[in-house]
Amino acid sequence: MSISPSPRRCALVTGATQGIGLAIAGRLAASGCDVILHGIEAQELGTRVAGSLAQATGVHAAYVQADLSSQEAAADLVDQATRAMRSPDILINNAGIQHTCPIESFPTDRWNAILAVNLTAAFLAMRAAVPGMRARGWGRIVNIASVHGLVASVNKAAYLAAKHGLVGLSKGVALETAAQGITVNCICPGWTDTPIIAPQIEARAALFAGDRQAGIRDLLREKQPNLTLLPPERMGDVAVFLCSDAASGITGVALPVDGGWTAQ
Ligand SMILES: NC(=O)c1ccc[n+]([C@@H]2O[C@H](COP(=O)([O-])OP(=O)(O)OC[C@H]3O[C@@H](n4cnc5c(N)ncnc54)[C@H](O)[C@@H]3O)[C@@H](O)[C@H]2O)c1
Repeated sequence: MSISPSPRRCALVTGATQGIGLAIAGRLAASGCDVILHGIEAQELGTRVAGSLAQATGVHAAYVQADLSSQEAAADLVDQATRAMRSPDILINNAGIQHTCPIESFPTDRWNAILAVNLTAAFLAMRAAVPGMRARGWGRIVNIASVHGLVASVNKAAYLAAKHGLVGLSKGVALETAAQGITVNCICPGWTDTPIIAPQIEARAALFAGDRQAGIRDLLREKQPNLTLLPPERMGDVAVFLCSDAASGITGVALPVDGGWTAQ
């Protein structure tokens, strides 16, 4: 799958130094897009990651650093990316955090942080990116929500609120931009093999005398019928599809990539 090569598109991917974000940036670069990686890590580390990607794929890659729990930093992200390369044609809101805890003891600071990074930062980035996309008559926004944007699990109050919010927000922006060649969609991953799920795997492994594989099997059996942790590259492949001309008629969709989780 390729993304229209002329003009060469420029993609901004948040949370792109590891996990799903890095896999999406890699797939976009491999399909011919210039890529601006965002991360919370120091400039030197991020620049190294961007450099390796550029070397491996032959596209231009840059890195911008921002803590997206800060509204000021999140509101400035697209401008920062534009200064680092150019105004993004493709925006992938991927950065996210998780905290699991029963509602009675859910800490307010974790609630605020999860809403800020997983939802408010995506709103602020879309608000800043849409005018450039409108002016060019082409844009692709892919928001990485979750199965938890569609269905619930216990002990995930803030994450559920943020991801359900992100699905609704994406539908609204899809309607506002549909006539200008812009699409806005969500990918809703199930269990995917990245660092964000490590604490949940550890907690489950503890029920099996610390056996990590047994913990993973138990988590998958409970929710994910394919019984396999999804490779982050699968999200990259779907993101490339949603950014391609083949998907120009798809907007306002929340697409599960979840091994059957939400089919149940
Ligand atoms: N892995 C899964 O099973 C799974 C399932 C459903 C949805 N998701 C979603 O996928 C997205 C990517 O997560 P992942 O699985 O790759 O996990 P990850 O922990 O590897 O990646 C999260 C990224 O967000 C960045 N980030 C966190 N806090 C930040 C902050 N304050 N400012 C800027 N960046 C920040 C991290 O640096 C990291 O790059 C998240 O939105 C997550 O909710 C993951």
